[in-house]
Formats: sequence, C-alpha cells, structure tokens
Amino acid sequence: MTVQIITIDGPSGSGKGTLAAKIAAHYQFHLLDSGALYRLLGLSLQQKSLLDALDTKLEECIQIATNLDIQFISTDTGVDVLLDSQNVSKTIRTEQVGEYASKVAAIPELRTALVARQHAFAQAPGLVADGRDMATSIFPNAQAKIYLTASAESRANRRVKQLQGMGLDVKISDILANIEARDKRDMERTVAPLKPAPDAYIIDSSKLNIDEVFQLMTTYIDQQLAK
Ligand code: DC
Repeated sequence: MTVQIITIDGPSGSGKGTLAAKIAAHYQFHLLDSGALYRLLGLSLQQKSLLDALDTKLEECIQIATNLDIQFISTDTGVDVLLDSQNVSKTIRTEQVGEYASKVAAIPELRTALVARQHAFAQAPGLVADGRDMATSIFPNAQAKIYLTASAESRANRRVKQLQGMGLDVKISDILANIEARDKRDMERTVAPLKPAPDAYIIDSSKLNIDEVFQLMTTYIDQQLAK
C-alpha cells in the first residue's frame, strides 16, 4: 500500500501547526511536526552546553542529533513531547527554544542527521508533514504540497495570542522582531531554505480564518489524492 503524503510548509505563525493537526485528523493520517524535532535538538544541545560550540564540536552534536531520545505521546488535549523522558511540551514552544531551533536548523550536517527520523514517520495510510522543507527536500514525491504563508504582522498577532493562551507574558514588538529575524535566517540559509516547491499550492492566510484555510486545503488535497 502506498503511503499518501501531504506536506504543509511555511513560515512560523502562518497557522501551519493548527492546520496540519486538523488535516491529519480529517484524513486519519499520522502527523510529523518537524519543527518540534529542531526545537528538541536545540534544547538538548543547549542543556549540554553545546549550542555555542556547534562548529568546534560538530561531531558530538551530530551524534546527539542522531540518537535524540524523544517520544510523542497523544493525549486528550494534544501531544506530549518527551526529551530524555522529561515532558518538555511547553518548554519547546517558547521563543527562546525557537531561537535554538533556528540556530541548529542552519547547520547542514544537523539537518542531515534528522532526515531518517523524519522519513520514519511516513507510515500507512498516510502522513501530514509540517515544516519548512517538507516538499522541497524531505518528501519531494508528496501527493499534495501546500505552502501556507501570511504577513509578518498577522503572524505576530496570532503568536501573541497563542503564547498568552499558554499563560506566557509576551510583547507584540518582541514577537514581530523575532519573526522577522527568524524568517530572514530561514529564507537566506544555503541549506534547505524556506521557499515553496515549484508545484506547491500557495495559500496566504493573512485574511482567512482557520475554517476558510481548512476548506481550501481539503478541496486541493481531495483532488490530489484522487489522481
Ligand atoms: O515551525 P517551528 O517554529 O516549530 O520551527 C522551529 C525552527 O526550526 C524554525 O526556525 C525553522 C526550523 N525548521 C526547519 O528549518 N525545517 C523544518 N522542517 C522545520 C523547522
């Protein structure tokens, strides 16, 4: 049986995470949150005081990336993420860990070390893969490729609401600055830069709500999966 793959790429705050989870539930497919892998690796390297020694201790960092001890456990309210058996679900969503992730994501050898782990998520009946390079690099043969984007301002607003909902105290100006800096780094890096695949369906969600985006996505995906 072929495993159907739906990729959803785009910048942070475009609504990718929420939509990817809804799409996976709708088609009863598995879900890969590839950003969480980069966040977990960033956190792990930070905990081991290696984040500032990525170039001098690269071999050690690659070993850690390859052997990351992580688990994703579905719960009634979402997914618990464990690193070395510790529940880090909330920690990995902080802006700071986002910065660690962006840093490790710019190192080609560390990206390569995470490839096999991402491919392992592709299991029957299908997978929704959420990230930056799902269509361009990890799953280039995906049946449906979506690139979800939105203006930096609308993404910053959404992120503030999301973080406030988690009980975190944040300022919009800080979030906007973080988003712009991270976009720049993600788009300008030489390896797997953030960009749509040539055959991707591009959706700008700046002026759309989740249900509207969901509708556009499922219409496109249904067409693609029927081919
Ligand atoms: O989607 P996110 O905010 O959880 O991603 C965190 C960081 O990881 C972000 O700076 C980009 C990077 N990332 C990546 O380079 N490739 C992916 N497939 C997913 C995330």
